[in-house]
Amino acid sequence: MQESFYDNNLIQQNGQLPCMARVMTNMLYHSERNGGVSMHQSVGILLDRETFRRIPSRRTGNERLALYNKAAKELDLKLFYMSLEQVGTNSALGYTYNKAKYRLERQSIPKVTHNRQIALSPSLKAKLKLLSKSSLIFNRQNRYDKFKIYKLIYQNPELREYLPVSMRYSQARLKDAMNTYSSLFIKPTNNSVGDGIIKLKKQQSGNWLFYWKKGSPKSLSSQQVVNRVNKYVGRQHYMIQEAIPLATYHGRPYDLRVSVQRGATGSWQVTGMIGRVAAKGRHVTNVAKGGKPKKVETLFRTSEFEPEAMKTAIRAVALKIMNDLSGKLLHVADVGLDLGIDTQGHIKLIEMNGRDQRYTFKKAKMHATFYRTYETPLQYAKYLLTQKSTTIMTRKR
Ligand SMILES: Nc1ncnc2c1ncn2[C@@H]1O[C@H](COP(=O)(O)OP(=O)(O)O)[C@@H](O)[C@H]1O
Ligand SMILES: [Mg+2]
Repeated sequence: MQESFYDNNLIQQNGQLPCMARVMTNMLYHSERNGGVSMHQSVGILLDRETFRRIPSRRTGNERLALYNKAAKELDLKLFYMSLEQVGTNSALGYTYNKAKYRLERQSIPKVTHNRQIALSPSLKAKLKLLSKSSLIFNRQNRYDKFKIYKLIYQNPELREYLPVSMRYSQARLKDAMNTYSSLFIKPTNNSVGDGIIKLKKQQSGNWLFYWKKGSPKSLSSQQVVNRVNKYVGRQHYMIQEAIPLATYHGRPYDLRVSVQRGATGSWQVTGMIGRVAAKGRHVTNVAKGGKPKKVETLFRTSEFEPEAMKTAIRAVALKIMNDLSGKLLHVADVGLDLGIDTQGHIKLIEMNGRDQRYTFKKAKMHATFYRTYETPLQYAKYLLTQKSTTIMTRKR
């Protein structure tokens, strides 16, 4: 069932993006006829229905629209907040923001849209498709199957060193993996904010520690582990992954959330990185599961990693991964990578989040970085619009 989270059509089978120039040229031809250059400064932000509904009350939760508004002002862009439920063929009912006020109005669909809505149902997917006919939507797909992302990256031999050994779950593979590895993670392949994740750790006695949710792990025999995992997995899609021996901070494992985005020049950049230290007794670092945000410099110093060198290495790995993946996925431009560092200082990819919620930066009071995670996608939108204007000029000559 969760297989439907993943839209195979959006993977480029041959590793090539569709002819973006042609897509843009078609759109521009229309925009040129429909009203000229001023229209090009409008950028769509596609929100889920609940966030959209809350715009007038300004209580949009994790989506800090004030930051989009601020960035839009600085970049001289007009934003049009949309919800798929309100999108028609050529126009949409959405919110504009002007002179500190939101106004609900019908407008033609902007030529470029930043997608922040996770469309899973067939009807929402159909609406998204409709929208994509009149707007270039980046991050159109924003929920990916973890194992498929693993396989895509694995195709590139240069990136394999950053991937913990992973396989799709089956009982037979679990038994094999338990013979090969002394610690394993078994996790759902769709997004889970730390839910449903099992950790196994072999003990000297031959028994295994079984970590599940909070509380002390249980000591179980191999057969008990296999039975219990099978029961928990049920009919869901799961993967088995070698456990990364994560570096620790005061005895607790930590990993990093790295915001990787395309910006003003169209190329990938690392906008920010923040550490997350697992809550006491937890095997996951997710903030939703009590993980505490911590500046990477503090963590690296404690782990005796040279902070600047480690940050440079992380940036390089994050960029390598996204430069590779963006040739294989359809127009992805804003992700959050979960990167682990093992006790030896090796960097490993845990997962790629297709709609980064960015709030860990806010929790860590990294306000400038938090702002930049909102600003960068708008810089990228502006870059796309400029590309399009260039195309217009080329067409005119
Ligand atoms: N292979 C692994 N080795 C060590 N820790 C892991 C591994 N996989 C997951 N974790 C821990 O569990 C957390 C959640 O896993 P993740 O794959 O990011 O799923 P989610 O979508 O739930 O965030 C990670 O941030 C990390 O703390
Ligand atoms: Mg995660």
